[in-house]
Amino acid sequence: MSRIRTAGLLKKKQRGEKITALTAYDSSFTKLFHDCGVDVLLVGDSLGMVLQGLDSTIPVTLDEVAYHTRCVRAGSSDAFVIADMPFMTYPDPLIACENAAELMRAGANMVKLEGGDWLVDTVHDLTRHGIPVCAHIGLLPQSVNVIGGYKVQGRDEESARELVRHAQALEAAGAQLLVVECIPTHVGQQISTALTIPVIGIGAGKETDGQILVMHDMLGMNADYLPKFTKDFLAQGGSLQGAVEAFVQEVRDGKFPAPEHCFDA
Ligand code: KIV
Repeated sequence: MSRIRTAGLLKKKQRGEKITALTAYDSSFTKLFHDCGVDVLLVGDSLGMVLQGLDSTIPVTLDEVAYHTRCVRAGSSDAFVIADMPFMTYPDPLIACENAAELMRAGANMVKLEGGDWLVDTVHDLTRHGIPVCAHIGLLPQSVNVIGGYKVQGRDEESARELVRHAQALEAAGAQLLVVECIPTHVGQQISTALTIPVIGIGAGKETDGQILVMHDMLGMNADYLPKFTKDFLAQGGSLQGAVEAFVQEVRDGKFPAPEHCFDA
């Protein structure tokens, strides 16, 4: 399967075809995900939690994300790979450009940053220097200590409006993709409608242009705690390949997420 690029993702949005995305951290799973038709692979800083056993993404370093990006790229020369910029690796546009360049050299096609309109200059400079940007709003795990926990965002009208405003500012600055995390379904819908670029949701309802899950959640690997917005596709698919194929099919058919995976205002 040939690599889908940002233009291809945009076409999917325009045609109303759902985008599928999973996190990936190594070459073997990358090959499986790519062969099963997953459109986008994210080397998430969630690796701190699912690979390193930490209780947040904050200690994850640029070198660690670069290492896993190289592993993912080794699994597929064609996959569309986004690499997460870890905590405090983009405090200003210049430092962001230098650090993002490391991830691009490691094999990323795009980098992802958590935050709202305060990142406008950074997004602008990254894109001007040839580094495509995926913005990430809603629940921002790197800001967990400020937010005071992993809580659903945008529940009241004012904060929902703010999220739409941030999304529009990031798009205007040059972001080519947006991830929205843990927001009510109607806010996910508002943001997706307000933007031209594709919006990929995690815990953001079924109306976004695509869905992303952390691969370990999607495989039901933390049986003690399966977040509300995820589903154990391994239990359903019966094998690793069956699980990934079931995820891809259910997202494409609009069956996942179902109402029980979504948040209300
Ligand atoms: O790090 C990560 O895996 C992410 C996803 C939750 C979108 O940012």
